[in-house]
Amino acid sequence: MNDTDQPSPESTDAAARKPTVAIVFGGRSSEHAVSCATAAGVMQAIDRDAYDVIPIGIAKDGRWVVATEDTGALQLSPGHLPEVDGSGAAVLVPLSTTDRALSVLDPGAPPRALGEVDVVFPLLHGPFGEDGTIQGMLELADIRYVGSGVLASAVMMDKHYMKVIFAGHGLPIGPYVVITDRDWQRDPAASMDAVASLGWPVFVKPARAGSSMGITRVTRPQDLQAAIEVARVHDPKVVVEAGIVGREIECGVLEGREGAPPRASQVGEIEVVQGHEFYDFEAKYLAESDVELSCPAKVPDHVAEEVRRVAVAAFEAAGCEGLARVDCFYTEHGDVILNEINTMPGFTPLSMYPRMWAASGLDYPQLIDELIQLALARRTGLR
Ligand SMILES: Nc1ncnc2c1ncn2[C@@H]1O[C@H](COP(=O)(O)OP(=O)(O)O)[C@@H](O)[C@H]1O
Ligand SMILES: [Mg+2]
Repeated sequence: MNDTDQPSPESTDAAARKPTVAIVFGGRSSEHAVSCATAAGVMQAIDRDAYDVIPIGIAKDGRWVVATEDTGALQLSPGHLPEVDGSGAAVLVPLSTTDRALSVLDPGAPPRALGEVDVVFPLLHGPFGEDGTIQGMLELADIRYVGSGVLASAVMMDKHYMKVIFAGHGLPIGPYVVITDRDWQRDPAASMDAVASLGWPVFVKPARAGSSMGITRVTRPQDLQAAIEVARVHDPKVVVEAGIVGREIECGVLEGREGAPPRASQVGEIEVVQGHEFYDFEAKYLAESDVELSCPAKVPDHVAEEVRRVAVAAFEAAGCEGLARVDCFYTEHGDVILNEINTMPGFTPLSMYPRMWAASGLDYPQLIDELIQLALARRTGLR
């Protein structure tokens, strides 16, 4: 056998053993608990005949630790916000392109091997996870991972630059104002005047958060300053949007296989039926009976088609990879307007993204498998 006939070390490895998936969850953002719940869902459903699984938790202080597979402890419910226990043994991730071995540091003991990782499933929501930071770390070491890369993750985490990208691609968005930290420090009155030009109500949001954390619906000028301060607890940059009257229609997008165009799911609808001014954190995670999720959404076919078209265009506008949930408003005037993209949407079996794919013929375990396969198939480095 000459040199060119040698199988590459990587292909020998892949043939010799099941791919190992590191499921990374928790993290530093205010969506820590939501991430734990998502990880519980994925760890329960992932096909153990096809994959070896290494659970890695990121504690709220950023420490990477060997995590529990006790999915019960990771469930989110009223009165129980799950959390990664940061006192476990620390996990070290390779930071070289030639090394795939994760290792564990127990206090007072030499480092021990935790196994080689083939693909990371970063089930992290919010800043320091869904925003390109973890993705950048994995890129440094040529480690494959599920979902969007550095730029798409960063842009789609930031409700300001997300809109800039959408507008640059001619995609429909609503009116908005950005208040940077410097704007607010220098001249808060000017920022509030700019907001007043949007009309009322407005939605005041941290630019980079999620799960409705820090969002307030403001109906009158005298409540605006307090709402901006609330948003600023989460992010020194604030985005204020004109309130849109309409229905919330969402679409799941999956990257195409082997360069094929992205796939759009059946569209779903979220309807807050009681008790909340909008789809806030409690409505999302703690008060199930106040919200109705339906899929397929009861909208005319041409509207569903338009949401799917806009969803795929939004996915491509920022060069998303793997998956994204695209959220739109279907307005009282009959228009479809983009609200946001989530590059790592809520991913428990009951979350909208998996439900939309289940309604489109890919059940939860199949969806997990598809995402891992897409990640394994992708080349490392610049794409
Ligand atoms: N401009 C808007 N007009 C009407 N409702 C809005 C607007 N922006 C947000 N909302 C409501 O607030 C919820 C959360 O806002 P969103 O921008 O999706 O933040 P998050 O990233 O935290 O999910 C939306 O699902 C919707 O119910
Ligand atoms: Mg949202």
